Amino acid sequence: MTKPVRTWGRVRENRKAAEATFWIEVDCPEVAETARPGQFVMLGTGLADVAAPFLPRPFSIGARLAGGGIGFLVRVFGEGTRRLAEVSPGDELLVLGPLGRPFTLPADRPALCLAGGVGLAPFLFLAAEATEGGTAVRIVYGERSGARVFDPDLIRRITGVTPELRTEDGSVGRRGLVVDGLDLSGAPQLLACGPSPMLRACAALAAQHDLPLQVSVEEHMGCGVGTCQGCVVLSSQGEWVKSCTEGPVFDARELSW
Ligand SMILES: Cc1cc2nc3c(=O)[nH]c(=O)nc-3n(C[C@H](O)[C@H](O)[C@H](O)COP(=O)(O)OP(=O)(O)OC[C@H]3O[C@@H](n4cnc5c(N)ncnc54)[C@H](O)[C@@H]3O)c2cc1C
Ligand code: FES
Repeated sequence: MTKPVRTWGRVRENRKAAEATFWIEVDCPEVAETARPGQFVMLGTGLADVAAPFLPRPFSIGARLAGGGIGFLVRVFGEGTRRLAEVSPGDELLVLGPLGRPFTLPADRPALCLAGGVGLAPFLFLAAEATEGGTAVRIVYGERSGARVFDPDLIRRITGVTPELRTEDGSVGRRGLVVDGLDLSGAPQLLACGPSPMLRACAALAAQHDLPLQVSVEEHMGCGVGTCQGCVVLSSQGEWVKSCTEGPVFDARELSW
């Protein structure tokens, strides 16, 4: 595993890509060079506001960009993401990474990426790298409603892949959840990232069809480097494991569902 660095990255661009959702590009060659799909960074504004500091938050690396850049999908949930959503070109962000265990890129069988909400982010990076390496990739991407769907043109530009869209209200793409009515022809390797109920449904689907599945979990993370114990998940052996260092990517059979 590559050694993480703690550095400052300069914002290149911040554009709105859906309701409360932003695509932020940052110059950060040290991280861009070694990052692998599925890894994340702790990202923050440092002490930009000394009166109200906040700790860096975990974000999947969403793209490796030409010239040493990295891309992030940031959706506003609370104060930390609200501040990140407000950055402008030229601002500096604190970056600690790359962190965590990446996906294993499947070379010999097609990849079917199942993305729920901000769980799309690691698959932007993975699909771009896999497509370049000649691996066939599909992305099935679900949101609650159409307003939340990350700009499909931007997905195509980043990955070269046209996403298969699902929304719970049926306002964009097919109505339903990412696991509903999936085309599993070609016995794909399944990769999933999203909220826990979705990952549980993916694990059940993989077991039912005897397909390999890697999941990326989205536990709350305090430190991102194995110190605070805030990110634990229960293994299939009944042990608590830290998702920031042992994950965030796990073989689904390693976890208790
Ligand atoms: C490995 C990893 C990768 C991630 N990648 C991305 C990404 O690419 N893009 C993105 O937008 N977000 C991503 N997230 C989630 C992101 O880190 C959180 O949304 C962020 O930390 C929230 O910070 P905040 O200060 O805005 O909200 P807070 O004030 O910390 O929380 C606001 C609300 O959101 C809830 N919340 C916070 N974090 C989580 C979580 N992880 N799961 C469920 N509920 C949560 C809190 O309970 C609270 O209700 C990732 C999380 C992990 C662990
Ligand atoms: S986030 Fe602190 S131990 Fe994992």
